[in-house]
Amino acid sequence: MADEQLFLRSKVIIEPLVDRFVAQPHTMAPVQAAMNLAFLHVPLLESYLQSPQVHVAASNNPELRGGYFINIPEERADEVRELLADIKRDRADMLKFAEAIAAGQELLRANATGFDLTPLYPKLPAELGGLVELAYDTDNQAQLRFMEPVLYRSPYYQESRQSVQLSFETGIERPFILSTPRLPSEDVLELDIPFRHPGLTELFKARVKPTTLAHLREALELNDEQAAVLRTMLSETPALNEDRHIESGGRIRYFGHACLVLQTPEAAIVTDPFISADSDADDRYTLDDLPDYIDLVLITHGHQDHIVMETLLQLRGRVGRIVCPRYSRGNLADPSIALMLKHQGFDVVEVDDFDEVEFPGGKITATPFLGEHCDLDIRAKSTYWAELAGKKVFIGADSSGIDPQLYRYIRNHLGTADYAFLGMECDGAPLTWLYQALLTIPVTKKMSNSRKLSGSNAEQAAAIMVELGAKEACVYAMGEEDWLGHVMATTYTPDTYQIKQIEKFLGWCKEHDIPAGHLFKQQQWRW
Ligand SMILES: [Fe+2]
Ligand SMILES: [Fe+2]
Repeated sequence: MADEQLFLRSKVIIEPLVDRFVAQPHTMAPVQAAMNLAFLHVPLLESYLQSPQVHVAASNNPELRGGYFINIPEERADEVRELLADIKRDRADMLKFAEAIAAGQELLRANATGFDLTPLYPKLPAELGGLVELAYDTDNQAQLRFMEPVLYRSPYYQESRQSVQLSFETGIERPFILSTPRLPSEDVLELDIPFRHPGLTELFKARVKPTTLAHLREALELNDEQAAVLRTMLSETPALNEDRHIESGGRIRYFGHACLVLQTPEAAIVTDPFISADSDADDRYTLDDLPDYIDLVLITHGHQDHIVMETLLQLRGRVGRIVCPRYSRGNLADPSIALMLKHQGFDVVEVDDFDEVEFPGGKITATPFLGEHCDLDIRAKSTYWAELAGKKVFIGADSSGIDPQLYRYIRNHLGTADYAFLGMECDGAPLTWLYQALLTIPVTKKMSNSRKLSGSNAEQAAAIMVELGAKEACVYAMGEEDWLGHVMATTYTPDTYQIKQIEKFLGWCKEHDIPAGHLFKQQQWRW
């Protein structure tokens, strides 16, 4: 029946890939993608090919969880070899560009001594021509400043790197996204299309609005065989939950990790979208619980657990705008989140501290975000303050309490929050875990370990509460939910430092008569 109206099944998932590695800011933004390809992925693939067994064994060793090991069985090593050869051939420009960045930094280190930088331009590697400016800070430290909007229109941003895999959520943990490339597989529908392809928007709109197989087939440019697989992903009946909208008042739902859905009858806001597709699980909200239309998505920062392309792509046809933090315009460590998302077909608004964005019946104010980026000069990070249905909500993500006075300024500007959502990942990964490929001079292990991706510990979280004067504290964004394993790779036990710190903080809240909770899997506030 060609005109049969069909919905996309709940359990369909998408993995957006870039040269077969899972898409995340450091594999998408052109400068950082080149650096990661050259200095992380290529060496990683080479290391795997030298001894696949070592990588597989390490991937299955719980002690090494979250490490850079490729979890692909040795029988498939030839496919990995082919992937590496493809990358070396098809991405030769990008690999050269990465080498040129390292050489450019070296040129500055050796020659930029506080005098005129003009003579250095002709000495820069040719690949950097027209794409960088040389600049001192006021301490005479010179850096390359990248022209990022221009770079998206250069040979170094290649959409042909992108593809997607559609499959079903199995409930079985997927391999860690930062290290294991996704190879083709029989149970996966592989589409060689860029993320901004309008067919994907049509596909995911079919979660809420039925359409025909013929329409989707045309939109996604599928052949007969692919269309037959797609048909198994469609259903005559919708799976949406009735109570995904509300009739009165306000509601906040915790969907896991840093993802909150804030709602009134007239609007919906989603923070750091990362949503389970496992509709059989009754311990969580899933894509079936999401309101049909989302006015604003708020992105707090660029870490891969906060910009989850897998969820974002599924929302593209249902979202008004994505609000994201302004970047430092050209710093090697600080890609623009806005540019990256615009190039994937999203409508984006970039905000700085205390900028406001209105939505029907309410308002978002961007608020400062402190630390949690290994002391790198990364500005693309923001907390948010949401006002809706008479309540004020502070969305703190991983912002830390290293200098709690900052939060006093937020209170002075915006008043007292009814709810403060605070991240307490207070023993994060070291500098090199996420930023290794961007560091153009080696750092010692001791140095790296001293600069962690850490949010607030108990003392800092308490200090934030004192300054913010919030009425209720909600600890979240801890990556504890089991469905996040492929992104988080965290292992907590009751004795883990972070969990102990949360207990200590909750104890402090109790002593101070502040209602507080440690969010896990699912929670709702209704007023
Ligand atoms: Fe983070
Ligand atoms: Fe995080």
